[in-house]
Amino acid sequence: MVASISVPGQAHWSSKAAFVLAAVGSAVGLGNLWRFPSEAGANGGGAFVLIYILCVALIGAPLLLAETLIGRHGQRSTVGSAKLLARQSNASSGWAALAVIGMIANYLILTFYSVVAGWVLYFIWTSGADVARTVAAGQPFAGAYADLTIDQVRQQMPDLFADPVKMSIAHFIFAAATTFVVARGVKGGIEVAATWLMPAFFVLLLGITVYAGITGDFAAAVAFLFTPDFERALQPQVLNSALGQAFFSLSLGGGAMVAYGAYASRDTNLGQTSGLISAADTSVAIIAGLAIFPIVFSVGLTPDAGPTLMFQTLPAAFHSMPAGALVAFAFFVLALFAALTSSVSLLEISTAYLVERFKMSRTLAAGLLGGGFFLIGMVSVLSFNVWADHRPLALVPGFTNANWFDVFDGVTGRILLPLSGLITAVFIGWIADRKLVDEETGLKSGPLLPLWRFLVAWLCPIAVFLILLFGLFPQLIS
Ligand code: PHE
Repeated sequence: MVASISVPGQAHWSSKAAFVLAAVGSAVGLGNLWRFPSEAGANGGGAFVLIYILCVALIGAPLLLAETLIGRHGQRSTVGSAKLLARQSNASSGWAALAVIGMIANYLILTFYSVVAGWVLYFIWTSGADVARTVAAGQPFAGAYADLTIDQVRQQMPDLFADPVKMSIAHFIFAAATTFVVARGVKGGIEVAATWLMPAFFVLLLGITVYAGITGDFAAAVAFLFTPDFERALQPQVLNSALGQAFFSLSLGGGAMVAYGAYASRDTNLGQTSGLISAADTSVAIIAGLAIFPIVFSVGLTPDAGPTLMFQTLPAAFHSMPAGALVAFAFFVLALFAALTSSVSLLEISTAYLVERFKMSRTLAAGLLGGGFFLIGMVSVLSFNVWADHRPLALVPGFTNANWFDVFDGVTGRILLPLSGLITAVFIGWIADRKLVDEETGLKSGPLLPLWRFLVAWLCPIAVFLILLFGLFPQLIS
């Protein structure tokens, strides 16, 4: 029996609800609003949604419990917590390398996440100006960008991509906001942001979904999202993207949930909270789909626009919708809230590590890391314009045509996150002391504990190994 560990000076959430809200804030983000609809749209809708839900239930949720328990047990940074559990399990402290890979992956995600969030900021700016214009003209319920032609509305995104200055300013503002919140600390920054922004997010999302249900083609959206084509569902590409999306959306693999678990109190039942967080994140993704696709279908646009769905297709759809100007603005504000509560979790991991390892002040650590990810993110900014022709990994299969932005996204999402998730599953399923782990889960009696053990020790490593393999060697499945 190991005494519960408490580290002097370690921050804690002020309540269990605050922990759940912050973790849901981390999970719910651009992954739900931007990545999920675009992946679902590109992978056949219903087939993707079905596999995605299975991935969340069988792999994502069990790994979420594994990650939060490593953090809560260690009450340290992700690296410190993994090291401690390895030592107490008489395993090599080399297992902490898993946390280092994850930390690097999440830092790299932050560099381009902030660029995408910058696009959101830019659209808040243009749609906000549009609302001001329609209100001044006495037509607050006009469609979005009514003074532009539909082609001009669609042209806004390519125009933004061609303008590195605008993109860097937006990226800078978002990076600064993320750094500011993290520098303010766990309780005073991250928790405050989550407790204000997440409820506002839910209200806005429900409002927009009801609006989409009334004004859009809701039936077409439901049919698209919930009629699986079983032949399609079993295609390796669909399995691969669905599992990758589950990792990204639940903030798994990189240690964000380890970091947040470290601030959870000993009486938090991690088994319960993991289920709750996974369910909340998945519901938001589906509700976001039910908000976005009716609008897209009602104006005859196709769902498979990919990553430009949110910034090109959606504004074009709002163009001809009643009150489109107001709703477009509300939508982008909603996306910003979601993005910020996720980006702070990405930055928290490395900040907590620098504070612990080098006894740095939190402000200094967050400031250094904030400046760093802003600068690295500039590479992604430039990859849309000045460096648009660069193909950094031209010789690597699967990346031959990828620009820098695609490389950051692909290397983290397709390689680093699954790799670190795989190591986490092996570590918790096979290496870590069984008693210590079981105690942390909160899954005391009944079939849940053995079921969870089976999923973590067998299903997760095997399934994740397969996505890694197909992620690295796409030619195996094509
Ligand atoms: N889950 C977040 C989203 O859906 C992104 C994220 C990934 C956050 C990894 C933290 C760690 O937007």
